[in-house]
Amino acid sequence: MNPTLDAYNIDDLRRMAKKRLPRGIFEYVDRGAEDEVALRHNTEIYRSLKIKNRVLKDVSARTTETEIFGRKLAMPFGISPTASAGLVSEGGEVGLARAAARMGVVCTAATSALTSMEEIHEAGDENLWFQLYMWTDMDLTARFVERIKAAGYKTMLITVDGPVPSNREYNYRNGFAMPLRYSPRLIAQILANPGWCLRVLAPQYLKRGHFRKVNNPPELASKLTQIDVETSYTKPAAQNWDDVKRVRDMWPGNLLVKGLQSAEDAVIAADLGLQGVVLSNHGGRYLDSAPAPLEVVPEVRAAVGDRIKILIDSGARRGGDIVKAIALGADMVMSGRPTLYGSAVAGEAGSYRALDIFKSEMDRVMAQIGVNRIDELGPHIFWNPPAWVPVPSRN
Ligand code: LAC
Repeated sequence: MNPTLDAYNIDDLRRMAKKRLPRGIFEYVDRGAEDEVALRHNTEIYRSLKIKNRVLKDVSARTTETEIFGRKLAMPFGISPTASAGLVSEGGEVGLARAAARMGVVCTAATSALTSMEEIHEAGDENLWFQLYMWTDMDLTARFVERIKAAGYKTMLITVDGPVPSNREYNYRNGFAMPLRYSPRLIAQILANPGWCLRVLAPQYLKRGHFRKVNNPPELASKLTQIDVETSYTKPAAQNWDDVKRVRDMWPGNLLVKGLQSAEDAVIAADLGLQGVVLSNHGGRYLDSAPAPLEVVPEVRAAVGDRIKILIDSGARRGGDIVKAIALGADMVMSGRPTLYGSAVAGEAGSYRALDIFKSEMDRVMAQIGVNRIDELGPHIFWNPPAWVPVPSRN
């Protein structure tokens, strides 16, 4: 019996996940940096935009389908890379990849996953992408990129918004840290949650051993057991566009950068010949005063035109949010937490449930606004939009 069938929206999945996870782990997934202003704003901005219902248009032939990089998608949606799927369900990353392949959407395997990139790749299809954190040592990065290629990935996004670690005060308070450390507070939370111990902790240790970022290069494995040491390898403040150029020159597939939020940076990415950008404030987990990615889509689209794909993440919780982002000029929407909530409740089936909720909501909203195909979406769908929404062109 799949308990997520009782979840009618992403927030239901979130509430169920909260009950099933030790507090530190739930908060690691759920919360944001500093005062969580960006975290809240990311979802509120979607809700604040109103769209017009249109009536008596024949919407019987509508479809949410689209394409990205020549591959068909059931809807313009992808699962963002996250480091914690393996903490919310056993081998959670594999379930995410399977659910995405079954639904026909993008899934992104993360450098910091707790399951190997090869095992995740087996579970996915051509819409399974890889997320790269560049190591400080670029020769090590080059070897890492070779491994990603050999595993079979064709599209990669480089996360670039973490020159330094972010300020997550809730983690300091609840005793949680990655790499996972069994602090007294975390142990108390784990003991208070025997269900999680049975479902996740016990099988993890039986099948895979200690929670580890198993994709870390073996050269670093012995060094990356402490957060401060890990930081010096994965949050290199000196990193710059020349490093991205090096990766571009060694990567034959599609390459995107993730974590930028300005037209200036998107133009640099386009000039470097990258295939796209993922506008993201990392789900409100880094710069707390960042705008919502949704708000910067129009200015980025105006600056780069159709030269590159514009993807956004951070904040989408309803299928209608996908409609709004596409109407503002995004090519695809990504989100990390919703499928993690689903995964926490029922593994692959729960992740699939989250995707299914997004898709059925998107389909319903398209019917309500009189739209059959996603290429019919544009700024004309908004009622009384704020100044940053482009004026609809008349053709
Ligand atoms: C985070 C990193 C792992 O947001 O992306 O926790």
